[in-house]
Amino acid sequence: MTFNPLMEKGIPLEKQLRSWHDIVKRPLNKLDTDCYTRTRQILMNGIEVEAWNFKHAFVRLFDLDNDIKKIISHTRRIEDMQQTTVNWLTPANQTVLETTLGYEQVAVDLTAYLAQNEPDEYVKETFDFGLLEDFDHLYRYSQWAYMNDGVNPNDILQHKTDVVISRPTQNHHNDNRIRLRKHYDKNTTSPQTKVNILTLVSGEQQTHNFYAEHGFMYGNDDLSRTYAEICDVEEEHVTMYESLIDPSETIFEKLLLHEFTEVSTYYNCYKDETNERIKQLWEEFMMFEIEHLKMAAELFKKYENKDPEEIIGDKVIEPCHFESQKEYVAKVLENEIDKRLLDDGEYTTIDKLPQNWTSYSAQEIVGKDGAPTEKTIELIKTSIGTDLVYADKKLAQMQPKLLEKGLEKKAQAPDTVNVQEYKEMQKIDTPELF
Ligand SMILES: [Fe+2]
Ligand SMILES: [Fe+2]
Ligand SMILES: [Fe+2]
Ligand SMILES: [Fe+2]
Repeated sequence: MTFNPLMEKGIPLEKQLRSWHDIVKRPLNKLDTDCYTRTRQILMNGIEVEAWNFKHAFVRLFDLDNDIKKIISHTRRIEDMQQTTVNWLTPANQTVLETTLGYEQVAVDLTAYLAQNEPDEYVKETFDFGLLEDFDHLYRYSQWAYMNDGVNPNDILQHKTDVVISRPTQNHHNDNRIRLRKHYDKNTTSPQTKVNILTLVSGEQQTHNFYAEHGFMYGNDDLSRTYAEICDVEEEHVTMYESLIDPSETIFEKLLLHEFTEVSTYYNCYKDETNERIKQLWEEFMMFEIEHLKMAAELFKKYENKDPEEIIGDKVIEPCHFESQKEYVAKVLENEIDKRLLDDGEYTTIDKLPQNWTSYSAQEIVGKDGAPTEKTIELIKTSIGTDLVYADKKLAQMQPKLLEKGLEKKAQAPDTVNVQEYKEMQKIDTPELF
C-alpha cells in the first residue's frame, strides 16, 4: 500500500494526550527481540527527539503569531510523550554497551540502505563516506561489550551486521570545518533526498546524545575515553549530514518536512515490524503524525500560499527499511576505506592529501596522548590474544590489507596498532568464547 498522507485521516489532535500508564509501556524483552525491532525503536527515539528539539527552536528563533505558537506547543508535547514511550521500550537489563551496539547497527544498516535508495549522487557519496566510520565504531564497541560486560556482540547484532576494522576511528577526527558539505537545492531536490537526510541526521544526533549521556557510566577511564572519542565523531557526523540541507528552506517548509519524515518513518516501521505489539504502536503513532502533518500543511498554505505537495510530493516515502547489508558494506569498505574529506565539500584519497591538510593538526592534538580506540585493540589483545571479528573468511583475511590502505601514515596516535602488529594478532584464531 502506498498512500498520500495528506489525504488520510489520522487520530485527532485532541485525542493524542495520553495517560502515564499508556505512555510507559511494557519494555522489549532483550532475550527474544529481533535486532531490527530494536534498531527501529532506537531510530524512532531519535526521530522524536529531533521533532521535539526542532519545535523548541521554531518558537525561540522566530517572531510568530500567538496562534502559531499555540499549535506548535500542543504538538510538541505530543512529540515528547511519544519520545518517552519509544525510548522507554528499552529493557532495564540491556546494558549501555548492548544499547550502544544497537545504535551502531542502526547507523551501519540504515546508512547502507539510504545510500542505495538515494537519487542524488553527491548525497549518496556522503552517506557512503559516513557509513565506513560507524562501521568501525561497531568493531571498537564490540570489543568493549565483550571485555566489560562479557557480552557476545551477536547477542545484539544477531549475525546481521559484520564486526571488522573499517576506516580507523582515529582518522575520523577532522577539522570540523571541512566536514561541511555542499547543500542540495530545495527547488530541484526530491522529497526522498530531503527525508533521507533528515532521517539520518536525527539518528546521528541521538547517537551523539546517547554517548554524551552514558559514556562515563562504567567507571573505566579507557572505556569512557572511547565513548568520548566516538561521541565527538558523531558530532562531526551531525555537522556533515545537516550541512547537506538547503538552509534557505523556510521555517514552515522545515516543519512540513519534519512531520512528513515522522509519517514516513513510522509508516516504514509499521510496514516492516514483526512484533505485533510494537507494530500496533507504530501504526498508532503514524496516525498521530498524519494529523501533525495536516496541521503543518495548513500553516504552510496559510503563510506561504503554496501547495504542500510541491515540497513533499503526493506519496509516503520509505526512509528506514532495515535488513542485512553485509555485501554492500563490504563493497564500500574495499573501495573507499582510504577516502578523505577536503574543503569546499570535495573528497580525495589519503595518497593525494596535501602535507598541510587541515585535519592533521586536529588529529595531532586530540590523539596526542593516544587514541582510546587504538588502546581498545591493545586491551582485547592482552585479554584474549586477538580481537573479535565476525565476518566471512574472505573479508576477515583482508583486514591487514585494508588497514594498510585505510590508515593515514601521518599524525598517527602514539599507541596506534600498526599493520604488522595487527597481522601478528591475526595469526591467533579468535577463541571460542561463547
Ligand atoms: Fe512525533
Ligand atoms: Fe558511530
Ligand atoms: Fe555516526
Ligand atoms: Fe509530529
